[in-house]
Amino acid sequence: MNSKDLKSKFINFFEGNGHREIPSSSLIPENDPTVLFTTAGMHPLVPFLMGQPHPLGKRLVDVQKCVRTGDIDEVGDTTHHTFFEMLGNWSLGDYFKKETLEWSFKFLTKELKIPLSHLAVTVFEGEDGIPKDEEAAKIWEDLGIAPGRIAYLNREENWWGPAGLTGPCGPDSEMFYWVGSDEPPAVYDPEDSRWVEIWNDVFMQYNKQKDGSYTELEQKNVDTGMGVERVTALLQGYDDNYRTELFWPLIEEVERLSEKQYHSDYVKSMRIIADHVKASVFMIGDPRGVAPSNVDQGYVLRRLIRRAIRHARQLGIEGSFCSKLALIVIEMYPEYKELEVNKEKIVTEMDKEEEKFSKSLANGIKHFEKLTAKKDQNFLSGKDAFLLFQSYGFPIEMTVELGHEKGVEVDERSFFEEFEKHQALSRKGAEQKFKGGLQDNSEATTRLHTATHLLNEALRKVVDSEIKQKGSNITAERLRFDFSFDRKLTPEEVEGVEKWINDAIEAGVDVSREEVSKEEAMSSGAQSEFGAKYPDVVSVYTMGDLSKEICMGPHVKNTKELGQFKIKKQESVAAGVRRIKAVLE
Ligand code: SER
Repeated sequence: MNSKDLKSKFINFFEGNGHREIPSSSLIPENDPTVLFTTAGMHPLVPFLMGQPHPLGKRLVDVQKCVRTGDIDEVGDTTHHTFFEMLGNWSLGDYFKKETLEWSFKFLTKELKIPLSHLAVTVFEGEDGIPKDEEAAKIWEDLGIAPGRIAYLNREENWWGPAGLTGPCGPDSEMFYWVGSDEPPAVYDPEDSRWVEIWNDVFMQYNKQKDGSYTELEQKNVDTGMGVERVTALLQGYDDNYRTELFWPLIEEVERLSEKQYHSDYVKSMRIIADHVKASVFMIGDPRGVAPSNVDQGYVLRRLIRRAIRHARQLGIEGSFCSKLALIVIEMYPEYKELEVNKEKIVTEMDKEEEKFSKSLANGIKHFEKLTAKKDQNFLSGKDAFLLFQSYGFPIEMTVELGHEKGVEVDERSFFEEFEKHQALSRKGAEQKFKGGLQDNSEATTRLHTATHLLNEALRKVVDSEIKQKGSNITAERLRFDFSFDRKLTPEEVEGVEKWINDAIEAGVDVSREEVSKEEAMSSGAQSEFGAKYPDVVSVYTMGDLSKEICMGPHVKNTKELGQFKIKKQESVAAGVRRIKAVLE
């Protein structure tokens, strides 16, 4: 079975069971201060798992594009990826354990035709106040899983989330597929790596609080996740995901360009190149796409492209190769229309980054060799690592990797000290965000979100009626708003915008939400973000006659809750795009 069949079987199966398909959300989370990328299918659904009604109802299904940065260093083996697709079905306070486990079982055994003899499952063994999940075990047993194939495991194994410090989480039940060549053993052994995890059903009924305690969520949810790459490989009998059609065209091109075969000495570099270029294409080509830079998502992107370039040169690939592979990725994923739409941008950014870095890479490597040439040299100072960064553009992770290959330890800690000394930018924030996490649905971000809608409107009312939103990012401290305009606002305009918003706040206008079809929303004049994909039914948030926008929320109930609005900073982002940072005091 190929990956396209797997995806459509999954969607059809759950649609047949009352679920509505939602489009994949952006890879760059919209209102989430704690994480750089969408890391799981549930991530864009957090507000709905917390109780906000979803316009498409209580049963959802999708294929979500995801990026996990925690695994970048692992990429090079057969199963880790930076970019991957996750299949998921959700119950937002609707069905719970029995239905989801029964559907999972049916999908695996009937649709994917995995024999019962090759399946095992795990459930949560319980812990202070949270009971042992005998209910899930009983459901599995009734479905025909032998008791020896049902294991009770601890929090490490059978608890999911929150991905950040706070948010929805709960015990889960995981399904495993036997990939060994011998008969599957009667008893499941978590230590035996021939049992490969294929699906995770999370019973999301708790909310982890800032103080570490758990409260029951208003509604009991189901969140499931199945990795497309891994399951495709298993169904095709491969123990290497790169052998599937989701990577192989890229590997073949790397073979051609390097005149080397995909085996032993070369596999690691070839996999890194294929994975990193694919992830980069999705990051640049996203509707909220990014360009290489030295902070946040742009830094991760830069790191990926530069690592791919280093490995390509190691394989002997000379000259420009990134955009050649990028075009193959775009062809491989026609269902992500944003890639075709942003093709030119993808190619240009990749070529630019490759050109920039190729020049300094060889000299940087020479310099690294010189710095570590001394006999018994097994340490590189933070100062030297910083020099490699500043003069040759080596991301610290690359220097660490080079060091690792040579048995040299790099003093990362003092690298960051150097970095902070030399740059106005703080890497710390980005570093924390790398660890992944979920949005903290705090009051602060909700208030700033509503303020963002007012700002969007105020700019059109006070400055120029043609202004369009180009992007938005909210942390607990501030909002950041990008819009189409070609110059700095004058002090009078800034004052006018602030006044318009503060008047709206003072007026105490109710914020209302309604669900309408996408067409109706668009024709009603509701604001939408250029390039964003919307489902057939959308939520529209209205503030009296002040503002009307298609949006997932969450928002405050009345503008009175916002406080005093103040613009703190204006910047230029690109030609014709300006950025405002503002706060509520
Ligand atoms: N959130 C869970 C996971 O990422 C299930 O979707 O595994």
